[in-house]
Amino acid sequence: MRASAIIVAAGSGRRLGCDVPKAFVPLGGRPMLYYAIRALAAVKDLTEAVITLPPEMLSEGRAVVRGTGVDIPIKLTPGGSERQDSVRIALELVSAESEVVAVHDAARPFASPRLFEETIRAAYRAGGAIAAIPVSDTLKKVDSNAIVATAPRAGLYCAQTPQAFRRELLTRAHRDAIRDGIVVTDDAELVERIGARVEIVDGTPLNFKITTRDDLAIATAGGADLDEAAAELVTLAKQRDGSDNISVQLVRVRSVERVGIYRGRPYKLR
Ligand code: CTP
Ligand code: MG
Repeated sequence: MRASAIIVAAGSGRRLGCDVPKAFVPLGGRPMLYYAIRALAAVKDLTEAVITLPPEMLSEGRAVVRGTGVDIPIKLTPGGSERQDSVRIALELVSAESEVVAVHDAARPFASPRLFEETIRAAYRAGGAIAAIPVSDTLKKVDSNAIVATAPRAGLYCAQTPQAFRRELLTRAHRDAIRDGIVVTDDAELVERIGARVEIVDGTPLNFKITTRDDLAIATAGGADLDEAAAELVTLAKQRDGSDNISVQLVRVRSVERVGIYRGRPYKLR
């Protein structure tokens, strides 16, 4: 089986509000985009990647790619005005020999190679598969600052990326969305609406999306409890992967310590 990855990194990061586009905001001394690309290196069956970038960041993006040392072919393209446009543009550059395409947000720097592999494998079998986690908070519908209803959370999941699909299915879903004037925030919805099966695979809260300053602060965890946090992360990762081959590195970056985990290798943050 041959698979391609699309990393969407063309957003501006309006809600984050930094002075560079979100994918280039430093995290542990590297641009955020670095980590998603680095994860691809360890993904089985992945033969290429396409990355969407803000048009003015193409040469910076090329430098980030070079810095990762990832050796599959990687194409860079300016993205579109909405995330959906960016995915569609990237999809046109994906090799016709790829059977499965995994779409991932650069804004989720902590996705593991294993999560890519699981979604790709499930998509190959079922048509589509996305990383997702069960909703754990109670959900309230609010109007004018007051609760008007409580939604039962049973069966509700939070969608993450990677989201993988048979290439032809995703292409058709995007084509139909254009025809019908539909704009959404994830690819699964486009595939759902053409009636195809999209399964979920177990994501993890560690694979959160960096959207706001608070998210960035969490990603750049600081403070005295870091050793404890690191031990906990290792335990969770071992349970999940069933492997002892996991390590955590704490690296001091300008008085803030960063934790990273990776299956099979230390997560080096410099
Ligand atoms: N994205 C993209 N092209 C767009 C918009 C978003 O490639 N036109 C990418 C972003 O770079 C990000 C992912 O889609 O990796 C998820 O989008 P989001 O978290 O909303 O990022 P931004 O759009 O950059 O943030 P904001 O909505 O706050 O501006
Ligand atoms: Mg956005």
